[in-house]
Amino acid sequence: MSHPPHLERKRAYTKIVEMLKETMPYDQAMKESIGCWQLFDEIGEQEVRILRHYGLLPDHHLIEVGCGSGRLAKPLSEYLTGKYSGFDIVDELVDYAKQQVQRPDWRFESVDYISIPEPDHCADMVCFFSVFTHLLAEESYWYLEEAARVLKPGGKIVFSFLEFYSHWDTFQGILAATKHYSERPITVFTNREDITVWAMNLKLKVEDIRFGRDVLPNSPFGQSVCVLSTNPVAQLQAVENNKVLQAYCDVALQEKDAIIQAYESSTSWRITKPLRALKRLFKKVR
Ligand SMILES: C[S@@+](CC[C@H](N)C(=O)[O-])C[C@H]1O[C@@H](n2cnc3c(N)ncnc32)[C@H](O)[C@@H]1O
Repeated sequence: MSHPPHLERKRAYTKIVEMLKETMPYDQAMKESIGCWQLFDEIGEQEVRILRHYGLLPDHHLIEVGCGSGRLAKPLSEYLTGKYSGFDIVDELVDYAKQQVQRPDWRFESVDYISIPEPDHCADMVCFFSVFTHLLAEESYWYLEEAARVLKPGGKIVFSFLEFYSHWDTFQGILAATKHYSERPITVFTNREDITVWAMNLKLKVEDIRFGRDVLPNSPFGQSVCVLSTNPVAQLQAVENNKVLQAYCDVALQEKDAIIQAYESSTSWRITKPLRALKRLFKKVR
């Protein structure tokens, strides 16, 4: 069966999970689906420590994109009393995570492609662990746009990525698998310059970018880590500008007839152009 291109990735991931289920016990397959099952607990703990290191507080709202089978969410549930929203493209992994974590107040949901189904400015932190390593540049950038949208002013985005300099062994493994035509998700390496350009265009600040071994020296994390933050002043201004514009529109709509009449009764030639613009605006917002 052929799938629309944007659902192709979901299909490919789901197929790998199905394959793993056929070759190993269910619990192991759910863990192996997102990486090395033997290190499931250890990596989960490392991810919690990274988020805490970068400022995650117990009462924060965290959004995790690519939550998989709950590797992070499980140990995090002992720390985070605030909200958690986890999203992934594989329905079965999301169900497994939900069942493992046992936090009825937390949200676990599947998405089809690139989406953070949360309102604007609701979260303190958005994280992507080993997710951009499986997306094309334009997809990662799209996710960063989404992350910036849902973050509160001053919120942070934490994501991990692979770079050739320090993850050459990983690259060699992928090269060997490619030569054996093995079916697996795409793996993408990103360099720091690309991330800097993304941040610049998204008006985000690069707070930190470093090898995983330098974030947690005693328990080296296997990928590099980048932290971006929203510019609170610019974001607050945008929110305020929207509110101000909306307030103007509301008043103007109520007073529409009076405003047009006042303009039309004016004899000044300077009024004609703004009047036409105003009429166009009223048409648009009505
Ligand atoms: C290597 S796993 C990492 C899981 C988890 N972040 C962790 O580190 O414990 C990558 C996860 O990203 C998910 N994923 C891939 N593409 C995605 C997308 N477009 N949106 C959401 N999740 C995605 C996969 O299904 C998988 O569960």
